[in-house]
Amino acid sequence: MYMKYYMFNLSMLLLFVGCGSSVNRNDTEISSQETANKNRQVFYAQGEAIFKDKCKACHGNYAEKKALGKSDVIAKMKETDLIEAMHDYKSDTRNNYGMGGLMKGQVSTLSNEEFTSLGVYIYDLNKERLTLAGKGHKLYAIKYEESCGMSSNDFASQKSQSEWTKTNDTGTFIDELKEICPNVTFKKSYEQYLYAFVYRYASDSGNIVSE
Ligand code: HEC
Repeated sequence: MYMKYYMFNLSMLLLFVGCGSSVNRNDTEISSQETANKNRQVFYAQGEAIFKDKCKACHGNYAEKKALGKSDVIAKMKETDLIEAMHDYKSDTRNNYGMGGLMKGQVSTLSNEEFTSLGVYIYDLNKERLTLAGKGHKLYAIKYEESCGMSSNDFASQKSQSEWTKTNDTGTFIDELKEICPNVTFKKSYEQYLYAFVYRYASDSGNIVSE
């Protein structure tokens, strides 16, 4: 009985001490978080430059393609897994699709810091694209779906990813949307959201809109 009482008191005390110290810790956590965010921006910018120069031809503009029809979709990988995979190709210990040698050639001149940058960029890029696509889906569902008369999924899968990319590259994206939904006037300012949305759910994307 007494024993129980003491144990209860002890755990309350520990709880209290725990709370107190975490208040102090928060200040330093915030400032180190700020530094981390800043570093992340630097890593992101470096990763973006390398990715566009050396990786996107095979892995796709948003890292969303199976490279040469073989690799996993690296936009879906976790940051730590991305970085680890690059290290492993460099040290010749990864070969999931028989193309490890080819990937070794891509990363063998890159440093550890550059691997980190690429990991940060590819991971954050995918998060951004998801957010844009989510907004685009909402805009379509709320503002256009009824007057167009086409479900979100049918709308996005009117074209394949490379067909959508082409309309974006040639500046005809909004015109193409009008062809698909003649009764609708699409706002130019929604373009980037709608594009991210249809691209993500394009006919050959393997993704299906959950309504
Ligand atoms: C010439 C085409 C090509 C280029 C350029 C290329 N890759 Fe790859 N990548 C591949 C192939 C093919 C694989 C699958 C390798 C295997 O068999 O394990 C792959 C695999 C990967 C994987 C692991 C995914 C998996 O399937 O396990 C990562 C991460 C990766 N590449 C990142 C990059 C980065 C970062 C760059 C730029 C520095 C890059 N790749 C450049 C073709 C390419």
